Amino acid sequence: MIKKYAVFTVLLLFSHLSYGASGGDLKPVAIDLGNKASLQRGAQIYFNNCSGCHTLQYHRYSKFVNDLGISEDMIKSNLILTTNKGEKTKLGSTIINSINHDSIKEVFGVVPPDLTLTARSRGSEWIYTFLTSFYEDETRPMGVNNILYPNVNMPHVLWYKEGLKKLDENNQLILKVKGQLNQKEYEQEITDLVNFLTYVAEPAQLERYSIGFWVMLFLVFFAFITYLLKIEYWRDIK
Ligand code: HEC
Repeated sequence: MIKKYAVFTVLLLFSHLSYGASGGDLKPVAIDLGNKASLQRGAQIYFNNCSGCHTLQYHRYSKFVNDLGISEDMIKSNLILTTNKGEKTKLGSTIINSINHDSIKEVFGVVPPDLTLTARSRGSEWIYTFLTSFYEDETRPMGVNNILYPNVNMPHVLWYKEGLKKLDENNQLILKVKGQLNQKEYEQEITDLVNFLTYVAEPAQLERYSIGFWVMLFLVFFAFITYLLKIEYWRDIK
């Protein structure tokens, strides 16, 4: 019996180790879907810097009204920056852009992928690490490379915020050209951005949190009623 337990414990230990190793290169990111201010900032960063190339085609602008508390006017004036195949984008439209796939493919070699579900397929930590792992590499067409995603075809679009890093002899990233933000401020902005992309990947999560609260409250209340009932039943038996 003890032997069985020992084997089980060792297996458990190893499964944990292998998990740790595979996720070891990713940096943790503090996702907080309850933080509306962070989600709003993330949305602003996304629409200012990413929506020109990437789409969020399974999401609609109108969802931001209730989910993120952004007013319709704010969405129209600040977030809707792209047209929808030449037509003006409406509040109820899905979040696409009007780039021509053939011509963008010519420039980047690939079509920038849709990002609606990336936080689920790649994980929030992956996106966070990706956006903090760009470094200068003259041999690449975009002048940059990425530690997490070697030979990536995306330019480092946020370099004006982060600055430009380079690899030193020990393969560590060091700052070469200063950007608008210091490291801590940049990491905070990327946290907001990834927080936003995590919400987009599963908007129902916001709702689940609030439903969860009421479910817990109900369970506590129900336990109390059951307890009273138990006392009532046992009164006659004793
Ligand atoms: C100038 C166009 C352009 C802009 C702007 C841009 N990207 Fe990209 N992005 C790309 C291209 C092209 C790829 C594909 C790279 C590859 O596969 O080599 C890519 C890939 C990615 C990926 C990897 C997706 C995957 O699953 O492989 C993520 C995540 C991403 N971009 C996030 C962002 C974010 C966040 C922003 C805004 C800060 C942004 N991108 C702005 C062109 C762009």
